[in-house]
Amino acid sequence: MDTRALEVSLLNAKSLCVFTGAGVSQESGIPTFRGENGLWKQFRAEDLATPEAFERNPQLVWEWYAWRRELIHNAQPNAAHRALAQIESALSMKSDGRFTLITQNVDGLHQRAGSQNIILLHGDIWVLRCSACDFQRRDESVPLHPLPPICPACRSLLRPGVVWFGEPLPSADWTDATHAAEAADVFLVIGTSALVYPAAHLPQLAKQHGAQLIEINPERTALSSLADLFIQGKAAEAFASIQIHIE
Ligand code: OAD
Repeated sequence: MDTRALEVSLLNAKSLCVFTGAGVSQESGIPTFRGENGLWKQFRAEDLATPEAFERNPQLVWEWYAWRRELIHNAQPNAAHRALAQIESALSMKSDGRFTLITQNVDGLHQRAGSQNIILLHGDIWVLRCSACDFQRRDESVPLHPLPPICPACRSLLRPGVVWFGEPLPSADWTDATHAAEAADVFLVIGTSALVYPAAHLPQLAKQHGAQLIEINPERTALSSLADLFIQGKAAEAFASIQIHIE
């Protein structure tokens, strides 16, 4: 895998925007959604990741999320998560440097690796929010008890703090993400099939606004023909082989 061009772009970036998907956590042992061993091969999104599924069978939905919380709890950030946190702190030393990480992942591994300026487009699996009132809380306990959890404010069911199919993205986060994409001079896409909209608009938006578009993925995706630089390989392997010295 030749990562020299990636190193040069990272070194020269002034406004770097990174957009990640499930593939960035694959080498931490978290399954992706699509592809050979993807979650959507084993499970149906309609049964587990929609408001209707939760209404029909909250216990089943919660069991699936409890299983995923346990998997994530036992996983560690990998070299890609760590490198992105390092790049952010190096860029923040530059007087005109700007770094934004936009993730579709709900696993929290970027935050555990130390990333700071992060937009959680699809929410956070460690947040529980009420299905009826405004109550929400962070709860990283594994296993979660009771299941399903109950809102202490109104006794309705709590739900995972994630975005489900058919739900809008949090509007302030979407606005921040589009601004970061438009302002980026380098837009780096890692480990996403770029099939789920509106998130998948962001790389196109960045490109339209003049960013260099770089993609890291072991497979070609819907986006690869748009990319100025396509690095075919796994994320942690790609970052393990590059030196990060941004001055
Ligand atoms: P996908 O599962 O659709 O895509 C994962 C991508 O990661 C694929 O393109 C893989 O080729 C790539 N990949 C696999 N291993 C990799 C590795 N080690 N390094 C780099 N890339 C790797 O996941 P997302 O694109 O994140 O939404 O899926 C988008 C959304 O669809 C998710 O946020 C989720 C899902 O349904 C909701 O639940 C709303």
